[in-house]
Amino acid sequence: NPHEQPSQLRGAIDEGTSSARFILFKAGSADVVAAHQKELSTSFPQEGWVEQDPLEILEIVKTCIEATIDKLIALGGSVNDIVAVGVTNQRESTIVWDKTTGEPLYNSIVWRDMRTSTTVDQLLDKVPNKTRNKNYLKPLCGLPMSPYFSAAKVKWLQDNVPKVKKAMVAGNCLFGTVDSWLIWNLTGGKDGGVHVTDVTNASRTMLMNIDTLKWDPVLLNFFELPSSILPKIKSSAEVYGYVKEGSLRSVPIAGCLGDQQSALVGQQCLNRGQAKATYGTGCFLLYNTGKVKVDSSHGLLTTVAYQLGPTQQPMYALEGSVAIAGAAINWLRDNLTILPTFGDAQGLAERAALIESGEVYFVPAFSGLYAPYWQQEARGTIVGITEDTNSSHIIRATLDAVCFQTRDILEAMNKDYGSTLTQLQVDGGMTANSLLMQLQADLTGVTVVKPSMAESTALGAAMVAGFAMKVWDIEGAPLTLPAQKWTPKYSENERDVRYAKWKMAVERSMGWDI
Ligand code: G3P
Repeated sequence: NPHEQPSQLRGAIDEGTSSARFILFKAGSADVVAAHQKELSTSFPQEGWVEQDPLEILEIVKTCIEATIDKLIALGGSVNDIVAVGVTNQRESTIVWDKTTGEPLYNSIVWRDMRTSTTVDQLLDKVPNKTRNKNYLKPLCGLPMSPYFSAAKVKWLQDNVPKVKKAMVAGNCLFGTVDSWLIWNLTGGKDGGVHVTDVTNASRTMLMNIDTLKWDPVLLNFFELPSSILPKIKSSAEVYGYVKEGSLRSVPIAGCLGDQQSALVGQQCLNRGQAKATYGTGCFLLYNTGKVKVDSSHGLLTTVAYQLGPTQQPMYALEGSVAIAGAAINWLRDNLTILPTFGDAQGLAERAALIESGEVYFVPAFSGLYAPYWQQEARGTIVGITEDTNSSHIIRATLDAVCFQTRDILEAMNKDYGSTLTQLQVDGGMTANSLLMQLQADLTGVTVVKPSMAESTALGAAMVAGFAMKVWDIEGAPLTLPAQKWTPKYSENERDVRYAKWKMAVERSMGWDI
């Protein structure tokens, strides 16, 4: 098979919200040859604000690359075997920098930062006829108005950080999501770095037209942002440029995907009707709708799934984004201190299952509710507490919440798209919790399938980069990976009764921050 040359390696830079990693995969396989991962720091300067340091992001990525190459060399491999590198990244997080100095003009405003609630409120006032319709721009960009997406974050920077405004006026300000920031720097930065993004990342900014895949003047006008700050939109699989320095010098960067889209590719959900859920800080469920762009009327996002080359047709997905999943477990550990470690959630929640009155419901709407509700005013709510309630119930209710939120998304997808999913591919850190996986099957009635390959996100980026270099035929030669399965055990009635109570709890969480 000309597409599989085992001596050739693909690299993936996977820059997530909590950590970055660099992974080298063997050609045409999910076999990891060498990898290195490093945690990122996050700061919370004010209630609802979430920031990261762009220079630290870059440094950590470089450290991961060098450490992985050291491991490769120690194994007897060579950098010359690396055919290409792909980039995958936390989406929506917004960085602005000065193109003449290369210096960031502010910290990265992380996707789940809520500071732009007021900005969004002000923008809603601009909607014609005073309707304050959150979905006013949705026909153009596939997204509702929310602090989640990049446009409101750039607007906030323009309005609140004089340095940013000044650089914009002078034509020196560049904006990018994390992929753009990394690619610009790795390809030379102020000395000729390429300022690009891919269609999947661009589809999360609220500035790209979801049909034309170009920056839309109407959207730019609505947000009053200058087009000079924008990267060029490219496909997800093509050579954007070459690494300028370090061990990867001269290696092409040939693939780019937002991390959730990358997991969709890595899970090989390349056919219409296939879906995956990634359980990380949040939980993101993407449903491949193929060449058809489905407009959601039930709170889902229309997003680009991938575009395998500049002349290829884009593939679309419906997405259900849940802001808080793993972050709620961290909260139990760090804020409530009822959980010694993240990994203890399973054992402690299992104890709750032995106690009859486990009727506690927890809606972890810490940063409002994302899909399908899009309620930035919602706040966390725990209901059903009795004298018998103990910490195990709260932990169990947290796991239930992750599953109910996924069910909310599946219900919306079914309404929008009509087809009921029978199988859900899963990945991400929380899938190590097998109780959670069983509950996910029980509470949704869908079989949950987890491939043995844990790094779906990185794999997707390596696949598209390999595809661009014509050394990995991802559509023609599917990988067969062993998988674990969980089938639903609850009766339909049990499932529905519990779900009805969840909906009641969600009602109570809404409209709190008035
Ligand atoms: O939209 C946000 C998403 O891309 C973040 O993913 O896995 O880094 O939390 P993750």
